[in-house]
Order: sequence, then structure tokens, then C-alpha cells
Amino acid sequence: MLEKIKETAKYLKGEMKTNPKTAIILGTGLGSLVTEIQDKYEIEYTQIPNFPLSTVEGHSGKLIFGKLGGKDILAMQGRFHYYEGYDMQEVTFPIRVMKELGIETLFVSNASGGMHPDFEIGDLMIITDHINMFPEHPLRGKNIYGDRFPDMSQAYDRELINKALEIAKEKGIKVQQGVYLGTQGPTFETPAEYKMFRIMGGDTVGMSTVPEVIVANHAGIKVFGISVITDLGVEGKIVEISHEEVQVAADKAQPKMTAIMQELIKRS
Ligand code: HPA
Repeated sequence: MLEKIKETAKYLKGEMKTNPKTAIILGTGLGSLVTEIQDKYEIEYTQIPNFPLSTVEGHSGKLIFGKLGGKDILAMQGRFHYYEGYDMQEVTFPIRVMKELGIETLFVSNASGGMHPDFEIGDLMIITDHINMFPEHPLRGKNIYGDRFPDMSQAYDRELINKALEIAKEKGIKVQQGVYLGTQGPTFETPAEYKMFRIMGGDTVGMSTVPEVIVANHAGIKVFGISVITDLGVEGKIVEISHEEVQVAADKAQPKMTAIMQELIKRS
């Protein structure tokens, strides 16, 4: 696998005109951040050797390079979800390539179901910690770099969390903080499953992010994550939901999410 990672990084280095230390996964809620990127140039996933291809609706696949908040950045438009059928090596492959490219900080976003009783649809939650409920671990197998038994005591960088809280306060944007529980999907949860995940300690539940954050930590990349609550897994408030409704709720919260991320990248 290390050979594949190096081959992909070598190809990208040959194409790159900048030297980003900051990467962003443009998950749900952050799509419009693209319009803020200056001096943009792009590489389609289909052109990148060894890169998996994105299939889910609402996610197109390319790497976007340019400047955001005065910083050189690398943005992933379209991520690889476990429920699409990729194995964990594929889901996290781009993160390992990022390490090889010299990325030091990773910003991620996602959509999730709120399980904390105080959460409302459209709220943003700064991720302070996570619970890994995926059935396969991304670090299972030969340890190609980093610690065999990586520490996860602060998977989400405290300094970046504090800065984001400051920014939200300045901008008058309401933010929640809490634990994101990652599970494989693709079904949304039954009421009994939401209840179980809440008892386990999750404030929100979603189908991404956790594998990428584990691999980033293993690689020594600092992480900041933010989640948009698109539906509620709270007893008495659970209603039928669809992917389209998740998208609509996420789109509505997009300006708030984008404002925080852009300013945080500038100050990081
Ligand atoms: N559960 C899992 N994933 C999700 C949800 C949810 O309720 N909402 C958005 N992504």
C-alpha cells in the first residue's frame, strides 16, 4: 500500500503548483466553500492513479487546489463512504496521500442526526470527540508508519476547537459541541438504534468522518471537524427522513458552516 500512496503522491506533486499544508474535506454543508477558493486549479479523481471514485449523489469527485483565507489549501470535493462498498483502505487512502504531500492540518465536515435532546435541525456541532462504530478499523493490518497503538486522547485539536468557538461567538453563530458517533449506514437509524447510540455517548450520528480522522491522527495530522444536524434521533421527535431532506437541511446551514471554516482556516 505504501508504494501506491507514494505513486499517487508523486503524480500529484508533479501536477501541483502550490505547496499546501492545509486540507479540507468538503463534506455535506461545505460545498459552497469552493466559491471562496482563489487561484483555483483542479484535478479530477479519474485522472489520479490509485484514487477510488465517488458514487453518491451530491458528491462529485475532484481535488481542488488554491488559496483560502490567504493559505494554500488542498480540498477534496467528494469523499469515499464505507457504505458505497469501499474497504477502509480505500476510504482513507486520500488522507494517507495527504500526509505524503506534507499536509499538517485537516478540516472536515459532515451531516448527522442529532441525538442530544437540546439539538435542533440546522444546528452546527463542533466535534470534540468521536465513537468508532464502523465494523472494520482503518488501521487494521500491517502498520506502515506511525504508532502501532495510536493515542486518541485528543483526536480533535483543542486549540482549533477553542478558536472556532471564539469565531462563532464573534459572528453570533450558535454552535453546539459534542461527540460524533460514526456508523456504517446506509440505513438511517431505527428509533431503538438512536436510543442505543445516545446511551453509548453519542450526541450525533453519521456515516463518515471517523475513519478519516483516525488515519489523520495516526499520520500526525491535526484535525478540526464540524457537523450539521439535519434530522433528529430524539425520542418523540423522530420522523421519516430521506437523503434529499438531509441535503436541504444541510444547504440551509451552509452559510454558517462556511463562515466559521473560512475564518478558522485564516487564523489557524
Ligand atoms: N443517521 C446517520 N447518518 C446521518 C443522519 C442520521 O440520522 N443524518 C445525516 N446523516
